[in-house]
Amino acid sequence: MIQPVTSLPTSLPREEVTVIAVPKGRILKELLPLFEHSGLQPEDDFFDEDSRKLSFATNREDVVLIRTRSFDVPSFVSFGGADIGISGSDVLAEFNYDNLFSPLDLGIGKCRLSLAAPVALADDANFWNDSHVRVATKYVNSTRRFFAGRGVQAECIKLNGAIELAPTLGLCRRIVDLVSSGATLKANGLKEMEVIMEASSRVILSRVAWKTRMEALRPLLEGFEAASRK
Ligand code: PRP
Repeated sequence: MIQPVTSLPTSLPREEVTVIAVPKGRILKELLPLFEHSGLQPEDDFFDEDSRKLSFATNREDVVLIRTRSFDVPSFVSFGGADIGISGSDVLAEFNYDNLFSPLDLGIGKCRLSLAAPVALADDANFWNDSHVRVATKYVNSTRRFFAGRGVQAECIKLNGAIELAPTLGLCRRIVDLVSSGATLKANGLKEMEVIMEASSRVILSRVAWKTRMEALRPLLEGFEAASRK
């Protein structure tokens, strides 16, 4: 790993600190009971979506939290920047990280990756007769895999957000995106056609970190596991 030149919000050197990467967004509130159960108290800014900070102190000098985009959590863990990550199973399915493992389903951040279309098209029975479909999505690999399994070639338009706008503006007729309450689909005149996968948040670790820092990581994992059983 490249030696960092700026410091984390702790007085301890990096090798004595456990860095936990969490995805920003609505999951943060669901993480609170998990942290409480593990005796972790993040600084107030951690829960403030407007804060420009990216790394946060906790009540423990040896634990620091970082907040990243959901798709970036596995990269931070894989490259040794973080020791533990909280990552959606949808994100893990999208990328193939050989050096990561995900031992624990936290049972939070539950949602589904779904195919959706404008209400008027969603029940079109002829749709599956087409051999080619154009889809807007952030989940290019999972989408291609899903359609390939049905013998359909998916041409994906990669978007990073506001995917529900794509059919309205004529980029495509179908999207693949996360659905939780279904409110965003409804507000944009779309309807779920099919669930591609159910997803929830998992704890991820790199095999190297687990081997070299097991003593520090195990109690945190045990706390998360106990909290997830509640
Ligand atoms: C996600 C997803 C949908 C929305 C679905 O976006 O991309 O747009 O949530 O949730 P709902 O079914 O409860 O309406 P998010 O709000 O996380 O922001 P993003 O577009 O930055 O990913």
